Amino acid sequence: MDDIRLIEDYLPIEALGRENTTAKGHVNTLHLWWARRPLRSCRAAVYGALVPADRWVRDVTIKNPPADPAKHTARKNGTKRGLNRRAGGEFVTNLCVHPPQARLVQNARHHIAEAHAERLTTMGTPVSVDDILTGKAPRPRVLDLFSGGGAIPLEAIRLGCDVSANELNPVAHIIELCTLVYPQKYGLADKTVGGATGERNAEGQMTWGGLAAEVQHWGNMVFEKVREQIGDLYPLVPDPACKDKKPQKPESLLFKTGGKHEAIPPGYLIPVAYLWTRTIPCKNPGCGAQVPMLRQTWLCKRGNRFVAMAPTQNTRQKRIQFKIVEADTEHGFDFDPSDFSKGGNTVCPFCGTVADSPYTKQVGCTSGFGVQPMAIMCKRPGKTGKVYVPFEEAGNLDQEVARRLAEIEERSGLTPPTEPLEANPRSFDIQRYGFTTWRAAFTERQNLLHLAVAEQLRSLLDDMERVVGDRDRAHALYTCVGLSFSRLVTQHNAFAFIHTGRETIEGPWGDGKFPMSWDFLEANPFSGATASYQSALMWAVRAYESLSGLGNAATAVRGSATELPFADEHFDAIITDPPYYDNYSYSNLSDAFYVWLKRSVGNVHAAHFASELTPKKSEAVKATYRHAGDNKAASRRYEDLMTASLREAHRVLKPNGIITIVYAHKTTLGWSTLVDASRLAGFTIVEAWPLETEAVGGRKKVDKAMLASSIFLVARRRSTTSGVGDYENDVQPELRQIVRERVETLWEVGIGGADLVIACVGAGLRAFTKYEKVEYANGEEVPAEKFLAEVEGVVLDTMLTKLSGEAGGNVSAVDASSRFYVLWRYIYKTTALDAGEAIVFSNGTHIELDGPQGLSSGTNGLIEKKKAKYRARDFTERGGDNRLGLPDGNGQPAPLIDVLHRVLWLMENSPRRLAEFLDEARPDRERLRVLAQALAGAALSGKSEADAAKLVSTTTAEQSALGKLLANWRSLIEEGVAAVVVGKKAAKEDKQDRQRAFDFGKGNG
Ligand SMILES: C[S@@+](CC[C@H](N)C(=O)[O-])C[C@H]1O[C@@H](n2cnc3c(N)ncnc32)[C@H](O)[C@@H]1O
Repeated sequence: MDDIRLIEDYLPIEALGRENTTAKGHVNTLHLWWARRPLRSCRAAVYGALVPADRWVRDVTIKNPPADPAKHTARKNGTKRGLNRRAGGEFVTNLCVHPPQARLVQNARHHIAEAHAERLTTMGTPVSVDDILTGKAPRPRVLDLFSGGGAIPLEAIRLGCDVSANELNPVAHIIELCTLVYPQKYGLADKTVGGATGERNAEGQMTWGGLAAEVQHWGNMVFEKVREQIGDLYPLVPDPACKDKKPQKPESLLFKTGGKHEAIPPGYLIPVAYLWTRTIPCKNPGCGAQVPMLRQTWLCKRGNRFVAMAPTQNTRQKRIQFKIVEADTEHGFDFDPSDFSKGGNTVCPFCGTVADSPYTKQVGCTSGFGVQPMAIMCKRPGKTGKVYVPFEEAGNLDQEVARRLAEIEERSGLTPPTEPLEANPRSFDIQRYGFTTWRAAFTERQNLLHLAVAEQLRSLLDDMERVVGDRDRAHALYTCVGLSFSRLVTQHNAFAFIHTGRETIEGPWGDGKFPMSWDFLEANPFSGATASYQSALMWAVRAYESLSGLGNAATAVRGSATELPFADEHFDAIITDPPYYDNYSYSNLSDAFYVWLKRSVGNVHAAHFASELTPKKSEAVKATYRHAGDNKAASRRYEDLMTASLREAHRVLKPNGIITIVYAHKTTLGWSTLVDASRLAGFTIVEAWPLETEAVGGRKKVDKAMLASSIFLVARRRSTTSGVGDYENDVQPELRQIVRERVETLWEVGIGGADLVIACVGAGLRAFTKYEKVEYANGEEVPAEKFLAEVEGVVLDTMLTKLSGEAGGNVSAVDASSRFYVLWRYIYKTTALDAGEAIVFSNGTHIELDGPQGLSSGTNGLIEKKKAKYRARDFTERGGDNRLGLPDGNGQPAPLIDVLHRVLWLMENSPRRLAEFLDEARPDRERLRVLAQALAGAALSGKSEADAAKLVSTTTAEQSALGKLLANWRSLIEEGVAAVVVGKKAAKEDKQDRQRAFDFGKGNG
């Protein structure tokens, strides 16, 4: 059996785009976890790792075979491969649509079982597909050692595997239990077990109605009890639009029916969220004003409805008050709602004194900020849409909240979370302003809410155990209900903000950061609208419904990946997504949930909630603050933990097993840590696929062209006799051969641009990582970083040769700057690159970007450097320079790209001077044509936009000019006919020569 897996040969990466991760029932909606991977790419990775590459076409007949048997075999193999890829690609594309079709999932399970049966049989035990599907023989064992929110294990469950999920963090572990274990074990209705929502059994007792229904039932019970306890602290709001008589004391009104409008007396609105601003005393001691710190006053920017708060000065009280104003357009106000405090600097509206950031920090850290009410987002019973009303007085809520908190503490022993907020300064900001405990990250009313939830949930545990009758199942139910309340923590904290486009309430942590905010929304959990528990429960229940009965429960283990509790050579495949340096501060962020989960479900998961906060010591992230600011020590620690984890992965993987490591870094040089760690752990990297994985959410903007993708690095266990590789004799020749083959075959299936570079660099690594270590002829070891640069260079060179072939010439023979420009336009198109990525790329192409000779130096460089970004400039930006493209003072010819840019500019702006320029510049015209052709890839293709994206594509203006130039090449360049009418300027200049104008549409080149 040729056991090359699909993922080692081909994945239809273009078709595996993002899914809608906010659709009802999607696992992402169950609970926040950072860097959760899209299910589509996880499914493709699991399937690709377990199914052989040649699954579809076993035999191919060739009509009219060539006489030469070697050619016949080669053609047959090539055709077979091609057909396999096409058929496999189509299947994977369809399988990975989310949600998937049940029939395709069944087929995929069958394919996996078939391959597994064949493998087991080859190893000496005859096994059939049926044996596997009916549980008589083991299913393929799959491990994720950094399983986080559980996306990879979930897909392995769906595809019928025996799955283990290891994770260090207790919050992630609870999410995994509720995703990968409980819905699989208890998801479906069962008449043999007690419950509160199923049918009655023969004895007339209620039975288990399925996990989702039971969570709905018990979640509602907890909620009703919490509402009884604290619902009055979110009083109805008198409707300013209603003239009817209102009850005298609206504060006493409780929500009795989950916010349903029938129960709301006429003349009242349901509060959805309260908007507060933090305040500081004016820095001028003589002023005495409380200065609001809010950043902006927008409330809604939706369709043609624009709502904001207009500040007005109450000079007597030295207080700013807020009026609600509406307009039909964004600029329909006589003030700018976006223009308030900036980064903690604000101006006192009464005396003009600036409260600067150091002063603000000092206030925050000593006396703390004040808060001032501004507006209430409400909903009108029975109507859709939000209504905003001014919010001037919060009444005497604080005392009442304090009293009830004390009551809970006394009754239950549960306390608000005074655990310290362990802030990673790289992603946390709020500690600089005095927020140093988790209690401070919530308003006291929110502390009361979360504590009341914990108290009421705990009070129902005995009932659950009694009704369900099975302790494990009851605890699973209890945990799932607890997690549905934990979902509230995301929005119910003192840093939540309004999404003015959707009018929803968003948590501060979605981007993996904890930024300071100067205004915040405090949601009403009982409103029935955004951020209410009714809404959270609906999302959770939908998720449980879609997760129930998907497959067999996973084994979820909590512990460090550096010490896996599994036997040697236990797994058939490992697919895992490790943390990447300091991308996300998982433990610090998840403490926000940990402190509350400890209080709610900690009683049934004592081992996971025994410590004050989530474990940090063995967390594999780069946290410089944990190493007294020593950056190098922090990196080293991360790298050591990664190597140790991958060593464990090597130990538990079967010798013929396969490992896929997801890596969220787009520059190939950034892979060196992982390459080193994998090699040290005993793996050979054989392939790499870029798959779209980064969800665009929160406040982060992802530039689509900048590879919002992760790299799926595929590796195998290295043979134990691999020894030391000789760089010049063993590694380099193989590298070139692999890369050539890869460029050729991936090009054929339509993979292009940066994706092609990544896939080829990944494949090229095989030549290097198949050795324990690689040495130069002088005995010096070749480090991964050096090799990656070399591979990238070889890949770029090979691609350039390929591009030249397409262009009908040899671009690789032109000067370095021109090659660089073609590759840039091929890989990055018109995108600006971050400094890091640009430098990596320039190293691979042996070009300097900075310094006196660098491409970004001077006023008319090929590359522009602005802030920390690099961007390639086109002819419209450079061509107007009279000196561009001419030989230098020593007669050295200019880079061909400069000549081309000048030619394009002259053609468009001053065609009569073209012949004169060409005389002076004396370029190699054949090479100039090849360069123009290579660059015009997309312009000449006449293909769809998607196809063109795989070709070189420069700016629209340059593409159009290149098209014209090539269409008229002979007349313009070879014959030097200068009278060309293109564009207004040329027409003006060449009035007299109009009769000799060319018809560019037809072309004559
Ligand atoms: C990139 S995330 C995984 C995300 C996951 N693939 C998903 O879809 O949700 C990496 C995970 O590794 C976990 N982690 C960090 N150090 C660990 C360690 N030493 N052992 C096990 N897990 C660890 C983090 O808590 C985090 O959940």
